[in-house]
Amino acid sequence: MQNIQNIIERIQELKIERNAVILAHNYERGEIQDIADFTGDSLGLSKQAMEQEAEVIVFCGVNFMAESAAILSPEKTVLLPERYACCPMASMVTADALREEKMKYPDAAVVCYVNSTADVKAESDICCTSANAVEVVNSLEENEILFVPDKNLADYVSRYTTKKIIPWEGYCPTHNQILTTDVLRAKKDHPDAEVLAHPECRRDVIDLADRVFSTTGMVEHVKTAGNEFIIATERGILHKLRKDNPEKRFYDVSEYTVCPEMKAINLKSLLLSLENMQYVITVPEEVRVKARVALDRMLDIKRSR
Ligand code: 13P
Ligand code: SF4
Repeated sequence: MQNIQNIIERIQELKIERNAVILAHNYERGEIQDIADFTGDSLGLSKQAMEQEAEVIVFCGVNFMAESAAILSPEKTVLLPERYACCPMASMVTADALREEKMKYPDAAVVCYVNSTADVKAESDICCTSANAVEVVNSLEENEILFVPDKNLADYVSRYTTKKIIPWEGYCPTHNQILTTDVLRAKKDHPDAEVLAHPECRRDVIDLADRVFSTTGMVEHVKTAGNEFIIATERGILHKLRKDNPEKRFYDVSEYTVCPEMKAINLKSLLLSLENMQYVITVPEEVRVKARVALDRMLDIKRSR
């Protein structure tokens, strides 16, 4: 049985041999974030994937993130260390179902959250992330927006636009199960803490929050804000928040804020990924080209959250 230090050293060696870069989402296990070359939110990692000169991108996240990297960088080999790490929300809309819905709203623009499959992106006019959803929607000419798949993010956006938002009925199970009772309990326990919530949370939870951010938005905000924070999102981010700000205090909003898919990758699977060059994520060219249009339109919009 290899010890942790040996595994870490071998990953570092293989990274050089393979000319690989490791990207990790802010929700990944702490040890994966620590060994990654870059950590970030969905928007930041998409951009990193494009900018990298390495031949191989090892994407420590879920399937749709690795797919986005493969769409944006077809000349690179994109690896997802756990074959079945898939976002349940992304599976809540299919391209067929979206095509049917589009027929009901012929004048609507389709905005799809990046937490979606490549097939769904290919059926959409533009993508968005939690960091830029409001800006993306407001940048469009259309007054009707079919927003897929997150109903909570759709609802959040609807508060910052005059456009009619038609939500899909999808949701993130991890964020959707955060309840007002969790926030109220955490506030009672930590009355001086600022509450930061992710826009995948329900409206009533967001209403109790002081600020709403993407994961990288939270990372940036706490650098200059107060000393105590209640964090209403997936708990993996606490690792980064605590590591970057050892003098500040961060409290998880509840004990159930775990996304199992985001915890699928561990050091062993990362090592196996680099050793065996597994699992290669590819997107069929005709889907990739269409999905790329939707991602490129999003990337042209300046980030502000
Ligand atoms: P962000 O890091 O872009 O806010 O994404 C949240 C998320 O749920 C990714 O799965
Ligand atoms: Fe999907 Fe939610 Fe997990 Fe993100 S945290 S991967 S949105 S289930």
